[in-house]
Amino acid sequence: MLIDSFQRKISYLRVSVTDRCDFRCNYCMPEDMDFLSKKDVLSLEELNRICNTFIELGVKKLRITGGEPLVRKNIMQLFYNLGNKLGNELEELSLTTNGSQLEKYAKDLFKSGVRRINVSLDSLEKNKFKKITRFGDLNKVIKGIMTAKNVGLKVKINTVALKGINDDEILDLIDWCGKNKFSLTFIEVMPMGEIGEKRLDQYMPLTDVKKLIQTKYSITKDSLKTAGPATYVHCHETDQKIGFITPHTHNFCELCNRVRITCTGEMYMCLGQQDKADLKKPIRQSENNQALKETIYEAIKRKPKGHDFSISREKEKEYVPRHMSVTGG
Ligand code: 5AD
Ligand code: SF4
Repeated sequence: MLIDSFQRKISYLRVSVTDRCDFRCNYCMPEDMDFLSKKDVLSLEELNRICNTFIELGVKKLRITGGEPLVRKNIMQLFYNLGNKLGNELEELSLTTNGSQLEKYAKDLFKSGVRRINVSLDSLEKNKFKKITRFGDLNKVIKGIMTAKNVGLKVKINTVALKGINDDEILDLIDWCGKNKFSLTFIEVMPMGEIGEKRLDQYMPLTDVKKLIQTKYSITKDSLKTAGPATYVHCHETDQKIGFITPHTHNFCELCNRVRITCTGEMYMCLGQQDKADLKKPIRQSENNQALKETIYEAIKRKPKGHDFSISREKEKEYVPRHMSVTGG
């Protein structure tokens, strides 16, 4: 069992299987993003071994993230391997994706045991979607999302609220998700990694999003308090759950149950902190998992009480230097 020094039980692992992405969302990365060299990236077998070790240590929930996880070659192999653990030690296997490859993979994902996916979608307007993602094709993503829905995957849409960019689409996104029975979570821009433009200009506090929603809909606070960073409301007219992830305006760390690993085997105990542990060394050093387990235990003890995000700090360049695509969302 993994328990940190604040008595939080760590039962959730997020695994970034690649830092690469076929999009270049302008709040996430610069257009000429430098990706990691392939030789530094763990093999799928190594990632599988790390995941299995975490499962042995009590992790019940796994989320595969990126970059864009579905652009990694042979990625379904990892899903099938991990899916085999479902029902026994593992309770949930899920995925965060930009949706670009969903049309191709949705069926296989369901077959492997995935039941819920998070899809990032910041606009329903073709040109705007292109502007935000730089390379994305909205039609393809929508087709992917509908394929996922049709094969039986439960879809949650994640939307980053961007001032002056998609603030006029908040209500449309709610209507569209309501109609399709997708739940929807809004996210505030977090100061992670250099993007070549000012994030402060993009920052839209979710208190403003909430006010906007209330001009059309009645929402009531959902008492549901999960271990995740989102707080939820229920929207009566569309009968749907709407989540808000507000790192700047609300502290969500006290119930945190998660840690993250990157595709190079770095373990991050907090998305918003720098401290990390190297898991690549212990797995390459030895065939057995003893050293790996010891490294994990040691790292969990150092899990910090909370994150340290502050959008205003970006002015002083003190933000988290990693891009979200390295650690996964
Ligand atoms: N701030 C907030 N959200 C971000 N994402 C990527 N970069 C950032 C950032 N700097 C979002 C993606 C996706 C999720 C994994 O994280 O849009 O929905
Ligand atoms: Fe890719 Fe997601 Fe970053 Fe967009 S936000 S560039 S889809 S990793």
